[in-house]
Amino acid sequence: MGFQIAIDGPAGAGKSTIAKMTAGRLGYVYVDTGAMYRAMALFLMRAQVDPEDTQAVSGKCEEADITIRYENGEQVVYLNGENVNGLIRTQEISNMASLTSKNPGVRKKLVSLQQKLARDADVVMDGRDIGTCVLPDADVKIFLTASSRVRAERRYKELTQKGTDCDLDAIEKEIIERDHQDMTREISPLQAADDAVFVDSSYMTIEEVAQVIMEKADSVR
Ligand code: DC
Repeated sequence: MGFQIAIDGPAGAGKSTIAKMTAGRLGYVYVDTGAMYRAMALFLMRAQVDPEDTQAVSGKCEEADITIRYENGEQVVYLNGENVNGLIRTQEISNMASLTSKNPGVRKKLVSLQQKLARDADVVMDGRDIGTCVLPDADVKIFLTASSRVRAERRYKELTQKGTDCDLDAIEKEIIERDHQDMTREISPLQAADDAVFVDSSYMTIEEVAQVIMEKADSVR
């Protein structure tokens, strides 16, 4: 078993930026578990499965073979042999993934894949249930959050920089809805592990957040 750093928290808190940065500094593998739920959502959407139909989702997800490869230091998600990295970052997939990640069949399948990845390497893994469910014995557990307004502002900036027209209030509303869905689902809801370090990044720089994690890792390594 390698060294494990688990980073959980809501969408837009900065998990992936921070996880990627710390993994790079430590020479660990970064595992983006959200990308796996997104790839599964893409599969189910293409199959036109009703995300609210538990039985249908459970049955169909068995046909999705999701694998991860590391190419030039980047995580590439393969869905039945197809590289889907460029297809899973849309709003439509975000919404579908939020619904289908509730499904016990989907979670069972992806959690076991995530545990396998952590068995063979030192990892920084980010998601919603890493410290509570996927890697309950992780060496470092971080719960990274930020206010919904700040998270909406970050997303708004990202979108307007890309030239996309958007509305700040609408983005915040969507974030609040997605948080609610992620926090109130029955299986593996988004919640901080008892032994997690709670970090509110609303008024912290990326570097300051990275420092907190590096110091915590240094103290237990
Ligand atoms: O972090 P993200 O936005 O890429 O995650 C996509 C969806 O997958 C989101 O609705 C939460 C869900 N998810 C999950 O349930 N468990 C994880 N470990 C990671 C993501």
